[in-house]
Amino acid sequence: MFEHDVLVIGAGLAGMRSGLAAVNRGVNVGVISKVHPVRSHSNAAQGGINAALTDRGDPWQDHAYDTIKGSDYLADQDAVAVMCQEAGQEVIGMENMGTIFNRDDSGRLGTRKFGGQREARTFFVADFTGQALLHVLYEQVLKAGVRVYEEWFVLSLIVRDGQCCGAVVMEIRTGDIHVIRAKSVVMATGGLGRVFEPSTNALICTGDGMALAYQVGAPLMDMEMVQYHPTTLKSNGALMSEAARGEGGFLINSTGERFMERYAPNMMELASRDVVSRAEQTEINEGRDVNGCVFLDCRHLGPKRIEDRLSQIRQLGIDFANVDMVEAPVPIRPGMHYQMGGIKADVDGLTSLPGLYAAGEVACVSVHGGNRLGANSLLDTLVFGRRSGEHAAERSRDMVHQSIDDNDSETDRKSIQGMLDREGRELFGKIRFELGQTMNTNLAVFRNHSGMEKASSEVDRLRDRFSKVVVADKGKTFNTNLLFTLELGFMLDCAEAIISSALERKESRGAHTRTDMPERDDKNWLKHILVNRIGDGDREIQHLPVVITEWAPQVRSY
Ligand code: FUM
Repeated sequence: MFEHDVLVIGAGLAGMRSGLAAVNRGVNVGVISKVHPVRSHSNAAQGGINAALTDRGDPWQDHAYDTIKGSDYLADQDAVAVMCQEAGQEVIGMENMGTIFNRDDSGRLGTRKFGGQREARTFFVADFTGQALLHVLYEQVLKAGVRVYEEWFVLSLIVRDGQCCGAVVMEIRTGDIHVIRAKSVVMATGGLGRVFEPSTNALICTGDGMALAYQVGAPLMDMEMVQYHPTTLKSNGALMSEAARGEGGFLINSTGERFMERYAPNMMELASRDVVSRAEQTEINEGRDVNGCVFLDCRHLGPKRIEDRLSQIRQLGIDFANVDMVEAPVPIRPGMHYQMGGIKADVDGLTSLPGLYAAGEVACVSVHGGNRLGANSLLDTLVFGRRSGEHAAERSRDMVHQSIDDNDSETDRKSIQGMLDREGRELFGKIRFELGQTMNTNLAVFRNHSGMEKASSEVDRLRDRFSKVVVADKGKTFNTNLLFTLELGFMLDCAEAIISSALERKESRGAHTRTDMPERDDKNWLKHILVNRIGDGDREIQHLPVVITEWAPQVRSY
């Protein structure tokens, strides 16, 4: 058995920021990740990180207002205020730790404009900001003496006397199963993108953390709010960063028209993501597309600006769409990108299960509401990663460990052996693909009751097939066949939470746009939806009021 004061699950930006904050408070910290930390999905974040800096004439309140309007008034305004007030210190802190941010002509940290914001407040490293931040944090975590369990997979959380006190884990290299005992556990496993197919997310984004928390009774909140990013490549769903529009790129339809003029005349291509994605999907549905796509046109930016600031996505276009954005418009369409919902958590990461914290995309602190602004995600990971690490460290300092040991892994051992012993013909890959297709067909940019019901029945059927899946590889070493099967179980739980929350919300708000209920209904639905697992397979839905402080809901236009 292994033991830490604070165990952080996930080694992306939220996890490593949390681990670093905790170890800096003098407690013993372990960070566990199913991949090497610098292969975490934060690595794929391209465009930048937001911060309003007062000394640049950009008060945090303006950032907060843009975020709240972007959320379609579903974000909790007290939480948004915390994030926006602490943004500057996080960005400058990362610069001081060694992140080489782009600079402007006068030598100050440079900014670009991002969607839904009235100011250029997005700090960036070309179009690979996440990667730059991730490498710097990994160095810091190693330097600070955090134990990093690289390529270890979490099977379940351990709860004793109503407290989360550790996890059952598998070392992927050996297949050995262990218990890690911890006084506090911080969940920071990122999102669930691959519940949808395609997605901009890495293949590892299978909603593990949300499902693990859901399985031990921690409620998931705002799960119906799934973000479709406006610019993803048709061929494989890869992200073409909003930075392209931030640098001045246009969106055009099959006639060459800059169609955003008709949908968001003031902010055009830099309206909120939900608004732009709906506009694109409408163009596509009404036939002003080419093979299911509209176009991202950056030709007017010129080769130098593209090479300086957008070189990675230029290469993506060349490799996967056979189009060089210097010479031609790139075919794009809306694609699944981000889950606004997650484990309900407060601004210090506390969930409703004592001892369990959550931060980053896995959590719903409620700063994104119905639609996240681009470049607020990296900010969320750092601010709430740090806060959860600090709080978990303080909580753990004077506690004693619960008396758990290796015997607590027995249920997982048996369940895995059961999977390995099973015989038949059902394979995980087919179910995973069908799940992704079902979700992408019925819970995308536009939804309606019958589509969501269809998805619900389909997920029930897939769950039944999942119980018969055969793991062909019976070995212990790097058994990816087994891991992918376990991930599929997590994905099915996440799909269930998304669909039941989406069916519950009887209005259109943010990314949840219902063609059968197209209006926002503040009177009845200015509230969060929580889904909770009770008992074996049963669910309970609850509602929670949205925290409104100083920004009353208004009609949203861009
Ligand atoms: O478009 C992008 O670069 C994505 C950024 C984000 O989701 O925050």
